[in-house]
Amino acid sequence: MRLTGKVALVTGAAQGIGEATALRFAREGATVVCADIQPCAQSTADRITQDGGSASAIQMDTTKAADWDRTVSEARERYGRVDLLANIAGVVALDGPDTVVGLTEERWDHVVGVDLKGVWLGMRAVIPSMIEQGGGRICNVASMAALRGLPNLAAYSAAKGGVAALTRQAAIEYAADNVLVNCIAPGTIDTPILAGVQPQDLATFASSHAVNRLGQPGEVAAMMVHFFSDDGDFLTGQLYPVCGGWSIK
Ligand SMILES: NC(=O)c1ccc[n+]([C@@H]2O[C@H](COP(=O)([O-])OP(=O)(O)OC[C@H]3O[C@@H](n4cnc5c(N)ncnc54)[C@H](O)[C@@H]3O)[C@@H](O)[C@H]2O)c1
Repeated sequence: MRLTGKVALVTGAAQGIGEATALRFAREGATVVCADIQPCAQSTADRITQDGGSASAIQMDTTKAADWDRTVSEARERYGRVDLLANIAGVVALDGPDTVVGLTEERWDHVVGVDLKGVWLGMRAVIPSMIEQGGGRICNVASMAALRGLPNLAAYSAAKGGVAALTRQAAIEYAADNVLVNCIAPGTIDTPILAGVQPQDLATFASSHAVNRLGQPGEVAAMMVHFFSDDGDFLTGQLYPVCGGWSIK
């Protein structure tokens, strides 16, 4: 087990990559705080405890500073510290166009609010106590949209590019405090975020990966374990594609 004794806060833990990450962290020996705007993050925590692990759930909105304060306070009261933050919660704009011209102001604010502001608020909430306790690790989730022009992902790409930049910024500001910050750019991963995507479009997404298949949420979680274990001691400020070779095409 590679995360024994660590306390991990995982956002987006109700489903998809966040759920897989919470479950994997628990299998690696971490205590996991499963945070999500959906109350069903409780079922992720329940699965962990039923399997003999340690976990709790909290319903929170990552775009609200007060929710972050409450979440971090509760985690510290319960477990004494937060060692690891997996900033995973995110949205795509499915309720209309996400083009530069077609976006509404409301949709821009929602997507950038969750996908970028939420990531900043999370780092702002945990870094002071990480410094106080002698260090910590953060992994943010960006996207290949941070690196590529992809149709109909204008607000999403802007937010995810911002996540990559903010990751570098946090890494350079807090490396001396032993707070290591990285981000992952997943390719297309088979999660509920793809609900409603037509089968022919899924096949196109799969074929953009060199391995010609969609990724699995556990494959993103595996990379986070690498960052958060002793194997990640010399890694900070980087964006790592977990994309089945899409980035080399
Ligand atoms: N699945 C992919 O193909 C893919 C590709 C690249 C990047 N990503 C990123 O990975 C992350 C996870 O995506 P996923 O595929 O698991 O999506 P998902 O929709 O399955 O899960 C996202 C989770 O985030 C939660 N969430 C949304 N808004 C929230 C808020 N304001 N506060 C708290 N929780 C909130 C949702 O309730 C949900 O549980 C996202 O940041 C997404 O942009 C996904």
